[in-house]
Amino acid sequence: MSDKMNLWCVFSAIVLLGTCFLPIIADPVGDKQALLEFLDNIHHPHSLNWHENSSVCSLWTGVTCNKDNSRVIALRLPGIGLRGSVPPNTISRLSALQNLSLRSNSISGSFPSDFSKLQNLSTLYLQFNNFSGPLPSDFSVWKSLTVTDLSNNYFNGNIPSSLSTLTRLTFLNLANNSLSGDIPDLNIPSLQQLNLSNNNLTGSVPPSLQRFPSGAFVGNHVSSEIALPPAPPIQPPNEQPTRRKSTKLSEHALLALIIGGCALGFVVVALLIFYCYSDKGGEEGLPVKSQKKEKSLKAGASESQDKNGSLVFFEGCNLVFDLEDLLRASAEVLGKGTFGITYKAALEDATTVVVKRLKEVNVGKREFEQQMEVVGNLKHENVTALRAYYYSKDEKLMVYDYYGQGSVSAMLHGRRGEGKTSLDWKTRVRIAIGAARGIAHVHTQNGGKFVHGDIKASNIFLNPQGYGCVSDIGMATLMSPMPPPVMRAAGYRAPEVTDSRKATQACDVYSFGVLLLELLTGKSPIHATGGDEVIHLVRWVNSVVREEWTAEVFDVALLRYPNIEEEMVEMLQIGMACVVRMPEQRPKMPEVVKMVEEIQRGSTENQPPPANKSETSSPTPQPTTEIGSSSAAH
Ligand SMILES: *[C@@H]1O[C@H](CO)[C@@H](O)[C@H](O)[C@H]1NC(C)=O
Ligand SMILES: *[C@@H]1O[C@H](CO)[C@@H](O)[C@H](O)[C@H]1NC(C)=O
Ligand SMILES: *[C@@H]1O[C@H](CO)[C@@H](O)[C@H](O)[C@H]1NC(C)=O
Ligand SMILES: *[C@@H]1O[C@H](CO)[C@@H](O)[C@H](O)[C@H]1NC(C)=O
Ligand SMILES: *[C@@H]1O[C@H](CO)[C@@H](O)[C@H](O)[C@H]1NC(C)=O
Ligand SMILES: *[C@@H]1O[C@H](CO)[C@@H](O)[C@H](O)[C@H]1NC(C)=O
Ligand SMILES: *[C@@H]1O[C@H](CO)[C@@H](O)[C@H](O)[C@H]1NC(C)=O
Repeated sequence: MSDKMNLWCVFSAIVLLGTCFLPIIADPVGDKQALLEFLDNIHHPHSLNWHENSSVCSLWTGVTCNKDNSRVIALRLPGIGLRGSVPPNTISRLSALQNLSLRSNSISGSFPSDFSKLQNLSTLYLQFNNFSGPLPSDFSVWKSLTVTDLSNNYFNGNIPSSLSTLTRLTFLNLANNSLSGDIPDLNIPSLQQLNLSNNNLTGSVPPSLQRFPSGAFVGNHVSSEIALPPAPPIQPPNEQPTRRKSTKLSEHALLALIIGGCALGFVVVALLIFYCYSDKGGEEGLPVKSQKKEKSLKAGASESQDKNGSLVFFEGCNLVFDLEDLLRASAEVLGKGTFGITYKAALEDATTVVVKRLKEVNVGKREFEQQMEVVGNLKHENVTALRAYYYSKDEKLMVYDYYGQGSVSAMLHGRRGEGKTSLDWKTRVRIAIGAARGIAHVHTQNGGKFVHGDIKASNIFLNPQGYGCVSDIGMATLMSPMPPPVMRAAGYRAPEVTDSRKATQACDVYSFGVLLLELLTGKSPIHATGGDEVIHLVRWVNSVVREEWTAEVFDVALLRYPNIEEEMVEMLQIGMACVVRMPEQRPKMPEVVKMVEEIQRGSTENQPPPANKSETSSPTPQPTTEIGSSSAAH
């Protein structure tokens, strides 16, 4: 009876599995089940987006599948707060796994013996955990291993001599464990990087390892025979010089990263990028291509002094920064803004993030963190999401989502030609609506007192729906006061503002008004005419309108769109209402939102529309009361 029952259960489970999973996408069902069982049996405080009904290969954080989505081939879960031991018979079922990173968690227990089933494993990163007990005695099962990092755990016992069977191993780090006994004679010609420092090893350095620098053995009781001058590392045969160089570099980078941990890696990346940037120079708003990873790695490795910072992710963040990934990421300078330099970093898993490296932060850690909490929890479709931040004495970084088309400033004033057309009217209206909604939402925060403080076209992006999306929120209060001649910012700054840190919501309204005028005229807020004369956009628009030459102010690029004159005049009026001199006479942001939305409503009525649903149904911002609920970030 119960046997029958069991059979029936199994049968229906199979049917269920079939109907639930198969129709969605070709997902590796067995691997998915193994991963779910892994997660179910290990403590994981972060909300990982591993939903049973979503596609493993395309949606699950940290999981990479092969080309036909039939197997999981890489799993990277660095620094997400895993705790407890690795549940047996879970990860080991991912038999096609090539890359595994669980580094920088708090995983305890012994080395998972069933990992021996992962016979295609090529890279294994388990450093910075609480693993203890002996190392696996038989390494020969992992014939493809190239990188092994087990450092910074509590492993004890001897170093297994079976390591010498790993003919492809290039990188081995066992530092900062409690390994004891003699160092075995590991004859691995491919090995390029080795670190056994800070263990309890004894004896002398065997001949095969004497080619490594003495730093690889410090912090042990090994005899002084190692004081031989370090020989240069042996180069593996049959490799072209250029290729060898790049492998070596990435290993350097890896080592630097491992030494520093995740946060440090970030700094390294930033330093590196900075290095490239300072090498090339570059003007504000003009993207500078730079792919000089090599330089950055070196610079970072030697300067990574920064210690007591930590990278804080916000809840719901799908990004997992694997240090290795970040180092491999190619970085590009996007621009040099008021508060620092902005980079685009493309991670290997095809996500792209924006890293902002702040200069002249003027507040302490606590205040910075409080501000980040507010900003990080500002979830709104018209506000760019802050994913993570990093604060230490010498380095402050912010990580944002990346928007492919660049800022509105770049779109309006960037180089045209080569098929690049100017922004059409509808897009400009959507930019205005989105930005207004975003700013209005920002103003509801902190008991309705929060101020953006730096609204300008280079801080506005297009969200996936094509609406404006505001960035760089609340930064002004954290930074040293801007010197008055910062021209770009000055063009947006309300006349009553003398200290950029003391901006008010009315100042935001003023800046938004300038943005509207910029969208209408296509002109920068402060721009030079042919001669030495500098024109202030607000003054210029005022004077032209006073002379009743209204039509003269509009961007000539807009003149080819029919029937929009009325709408342009409407927008002009809103813009001018926002930039009136007296702050108390300016409209409040929620009113501005309504007015700007009216423009679009008018336009969909006039023109028989391809009615775009998302345009009309976008919610207007609601006053929210989540001011105090900002403890969600750890
Ligand atoms: C998937 O599951 C989650 C909760 O586990 C649920 O919120 C979501 O609606 C489900 N999606 C689909 C497409 O069934
Ligand atoms: C392991 O790699 C080999 C060679 O690339 C491949 O033929 C084999 O199918 C892989 N094993 C699994 C379980 O994917
Ligand atoms: C696995 O790691 C190797 C070496 O770092 C890398 O070349 C490869 O692209 C990685 N594969 C995946 C699927 O991430
Ligand atoms: C991991 O080890 C550290 C240092 O000994 C200890 O503070 C921490 O509590 C350990 N964590 C777990 C989950 O065992
Ligand atoms: C190192 O080894 C010695 C003897 O071999 C032992 O007395 C000592 O406790 C060990 N130290 C550590 C930190 O394991
Ligand atoms: C190994 O790590 C130690 C720190 O644990 C460091 O001082 C040493 O330079 C490293 N050795 C090599 C060869 O990188
Ligand atoms: C070993 O630990 C020390 C101190 O925590 C650290 O400075 C060093 O970088 C670590 N070495 C490696 C190779 O991770």
